[in-house]
Amino acid sequence: MSKTLRHFLDLNELPLGELREVLAASSAMKAKLKAQKAGGAPADRPLTGKTLAMIFEKPSTRTRVSFDVGMRQLGGEAIMLTGAEMQLGRGETIADTARVLSRYVDIIMIRILNHDALLELAQYATVPVINGLTRRSHPCQVMADVMTFEEHRGPIQGRTVAWSGDDNNVLASWAHAAERFKFNLNVATPPQLAPNKVMRDWIKATQAPIVLGNDPEAAVRGADCVVTDTWFSMGDKDGEHRHNLLRPYQVNARLMRLAKPDALFMHCLPAHRGDEVTDEVIDGPQSVVFDEAENRLHVQKGILAWCLQAVG
Ligand code: CP
Ligand code: NVA
Repeated sequence: MSKTLRHFLDLNELPLGELREVLAASSAMKAKLKAQKAGGAPADRPLTGKTLAMIFEKPSTRTRVSFDVGMRQLGGEAIMLTGAEMQLGRGETIADTARVLSRYVDIIMIRILNHDALLELAQYATVPVINGLTRRSHPCQVMADVMTFEEHRGPIQGRTVAWSGDDNNVLASWAHAAERFKFNLNVATPPQLAPNKVMRDWIKATQAPIVLGNDPEAAVRGADCVVTDTWFSMGDKDGEHRHNLLRPYQVNARLMRLAKPDALFMHCLPAHRGDEVTDEVIDGPQSVVFDEAENRLHVQKGILAWCLQAVG
């Protein structure tokens, strides 16, 4: 009997139960890997014989290495492809690329700025497709962030996460996660860099527990977790104007003091120290940024196993 294709494209498209299944699998695999490294039994290799194609139109450190290592740890293999080296870079269509790759590999992960291109790839692929970041969203990252929050502070449901920065792909996935996992999300962006109408309409329609505003102090007051990200996402134009708009949104010790005393600090990395976050905060005791980075590995494995219906 053929199984239904499982893509991992956006958090708001998946039922909470499936997201929880991914997180549970990720935590179990993390525990088994730690036990193996401590001299215990070898961790399971449920993706033996499977191949992942990774397409990167844009640079990556964490996503690239964690998917590659994750696939190897699960017994499979990964092939690294860059858009420029593929015929995609010379005009072959996304649809044809999807059809061809589906004849060779078992699963595809793509980082591409154009979100519609991701959707087209998923439409024409006959194997699962994973969103490795688009201009619109970064779901794998926020799954790792939810896992990290819960490891440190217990269930995220009902807790409050604050965002200080511009509207971007990571914020969109945090918003999707807030709606699914039922936590409060307080957002502070400059008015000129606020979530667009599509996001605002989605928040209204879903009644997601998300408050949009422009005041970073109001957003972080009493929060359980403070999150920020680069002021210049891939595809953004760097410039003094953007810098000036975002300077009041920097997460520094003064802003962190307004959050709960045990609030966590999160950042997906790479960080631009001195811009969106000070050294004092990112290197301070509340920061869990390297736990987030580590959890990218465990979550990628959970996502891969879930997509390939190999969750034990
Ligand atoms: N956080 C993240 O996705 O990092 P990379 O761009 O290095 O993959
Ligand atoms: N918002 C950032 C995330 C990088 C992982 C970007 O899109 O560049």
